[in-house]
Amino acid sequence: MSTEVWTIQKILNWTRDYLTKSGSPSGRLDAELLLGEVLKLRRLDLILRFDQPLQAEELATYKALIKRRSKGEPVAYILGRREFYGLDLAVRPGVLVPRPETESLVDEVVKFLTSDAAPQGAVLDLCTGSGCIALAVAHTLKDKALKGKGTERDVIATDLSPEALAIAIENRDALDLAVDLRHGDLFAAVPGLQFAAIASNPPYVRTETVAWLEPDVRDFEPRLALDGGVDGLDLLRRIARQSKDFLVPGGLVAVELGSREQAQAMSEACLQGGLSDPKILPVMGGPTSLVLARRPH
Ligand SMILES: C[S@@+](CC[C@H](N)C(=O)[O-])C[C@H]1O[C@@H](n2cnc3c(N)ncnc32)[C@H](O)[C@@H]1O
Repeated sequence: MSTEVWTIQKILNWTRDYLTKSGSPSGRLDAELLLGEVLKLRRLDLILRFDQPLQAEELATYKALIKRRSKGEPVAYILGRREFYGLDLAVRPGVLVPRPETESLVDEVVKFLTSDAAPQGAVLDLCTGSGCIALAVAHTLKDKALKGKGTERDVIATDLSPEALAIAIENRDALDLAVDLRHGDLFAAVPGLQFAAIASNPPYVRTETVAWLEPDVRDFEPRLALDGGVDGLDLLRRIARQSKDFLVPGGLVAVELGSREQAQAMSEACLQGGLSDPKILPVMGGPTSLVLARRPH
């Protein structure tokens, strides 16, 4: 970048090309999000002010952010936040950046909990990371209850990573939601409890595939959040085996996984674990899938 005048339009175009060459699959979007952060403008406002020149200080701040992104650092870590299900969540290294696909898991859990089929009881989110699933469910149920369209439920969420849990607590407190966040290995933090619904987006990448992930995922996001063992199903199998004991009769377990093959294997594991009626739901036309199963009445 030289000392010539840089308008918003010109710098966005330049950055798009630069980041694309650096390997970002979303150069233009990255540029808009980072410039919006520096100028404190929404993306739409950037477009409305295409001809506005940047001040030297703004340019210097922006350049530093672009440098970090060009080295692969995820935009969400640079900004320190990510929107999920309409909630503004803090994210930092140590926690997985919530993905849009996971919003489908929230949709399914909320749909079940607000249906006539749902038993009484609380909700459990295993492997909560930033807290995104638990917080989105709690927020949505609270919102619906305020509108007279259902009742709030207790929500508990657990994670093995103290770093992730600290960020989940920060998010819960910022959103003022009554989610109970506990440290522990899967169900170990909720002994003797039973739930109306269990949701989880556990690590499900096959160990040998971790090395082939996009660098911004592989080099920046926590391995504990990604590596699901040899076939990616280590935690999912444990969830399939243990869920029946932690669900009330008629309760739902809903998990996210990375492929149709994993979904098929999880469905079978759910049946072996005494759950019934497993369903595979593809997400957003990609390989990500959900598996839903119930504890029989
Ligand atoms: C794929 S991330 C999902 C985070 C969040 N639920 C989301 O959807 O963005 C998986 C999470 O599982 C946690 N985790 C890994 N092994 C675990 C275990 N044995 N028990 C509980 N949590 C675990 C990781 O720390 C990480 O936060």
